[in-house]
Amino acid sequence: MPSMDESWEMRNGLVIPNRSVLAAMTNKQSHADGTLSDEEMRFLLRRAEGGFGIVTTAASHVQESGQGWEGEFGVWGDHHLPGLTSLATQLKQHDSKSFVQIFHGGMRAPSSITGQQASSASVNFISESEGSSRRLSTNEVEETISSFIKAAQRCETAGFDGVELHGAHGYLIAQFLGSNTNRRSDAFGGDVEQRCTFLLRIIRGIREVVRNEFAIMVRLSPVSDEIGITMEDTKQVIELLIEEKIDALHISCWDIFEKQDNNQTITRELCSIYSDSIPIVSTGSVWSAEDAQLVLDQGAQAVGVARVALPHPDWASLVTDSTYNPKAAPFTPEELRSADLSPTFVEYMRRWRGFVTDGR
Ligand SMILES: Cc1cc2nc3c(=O)[nH]c(=O)nc-3n(C[C@H](O)[C@H](O)[C@H](O)COP(=O)(O)O)c2cc1C
Repeated sequence: MPSMDESWEMRNGLVIPNRSVLAAMTNKQSHADGTLSDEEMRFLLRRAEGGFGIVTTAASHVQESGQGWEGEFGVWGDHHLPGLTSLATQLKQHDSKSFVQIFHGGMRAPSSITGQQASSASVNFISESEGSSRRLSTNEVEETISSFIKAAQRCETAGFDGVELHGAHGYLIAQFLGSNTNRRSDAFGGDVEQRCTFLLRIIRGIREVVRNEFAIMVRLSPVSDEIGITMEDTKQVIELLIEEKIDALHISCWDIFEKQDNNQTITRELCSIYSDSIPIVSTGSVWSAEDAQLVLDQGAQAVGVARVALPHPDWASLVTDSTYNPKAAPFTPEELRSADLSPTFVEYMRRWRGFVTDGR
């Protein structure tokens, strides 16, 4: 079994210097026009300095209508390029490979932020206050695909090593994948293969315009009762993705130790079938070096972490010691500030139960 400090290769030959991946974390630190702030850059650079093999940015919207949170940086316009270029250039001074996570919130892009009714694959109930999403017309779906492609192109121009397409956690790509949220009867709806069309068209479109060296990673939630994705659907989606020119897959498990009814973890089940065909990154509740090694032992090529990297920005360097078990939550605001989280980000983390000493 590989160890955390071993390098690995994506399908396009991009070499990742070790097995630690900083998973995407929305941090609300950027500007209202979607340009990157110094705080957001500093947060990411500190983790690159801390040795992460891959540094993934927060989810970044490809259209103004897709913004999910205040303070989210955008990748929908050329005015974002200077900030993106500055971030990519600074990240390159470290060994990390840099990925921008690109997404559209769909029915989870609140009207209070976008100023318009949320849109999705179908008309879907959102909440009492938000009402329902409207269904994107076929033309609008085409425009959204084109926005994803242009966003990826901007990331390449800025100097990033790749993009991660955010197909997890119930956002627009997932809303197209899910049988509950996608009830379309045009080319973008139907059986799981047809519901995957939106994602496949984005991938093919990006591949046509970027160099082979520019990596495309896809993040998926393997199971979601809410939007209607089963493990069997996910296996079909992965089989379709393997046929495309994507370079790695990222599964978001929230808890990598949780066993399904068949007594297997999701990571072990998917890696045992697909790891030989595509590198798989798995993320969810990893804290110690022992946890991380377990993920590798289950067949994943790399281990994603989010929360532990907030108070412990050097996690990726320290995890190569097999006894590493960093201090657990809660953390004081000062501890988080000293790890390069701005007051805005610390405030956001107060909403994550048990994470900040004076939070929820
Ligand atoms: C503050 C915060 C923000 C997050 N934002 C994103 C995001 O923008 N995109 C995404 O795919 N996942 C996001 N996630 C989920 C993480 O990438 C990760 O999958 C999850 O936190 C489980 O990993 P962990 O147990 O190591 O934290 C976020 C998690 C946290 C804690």
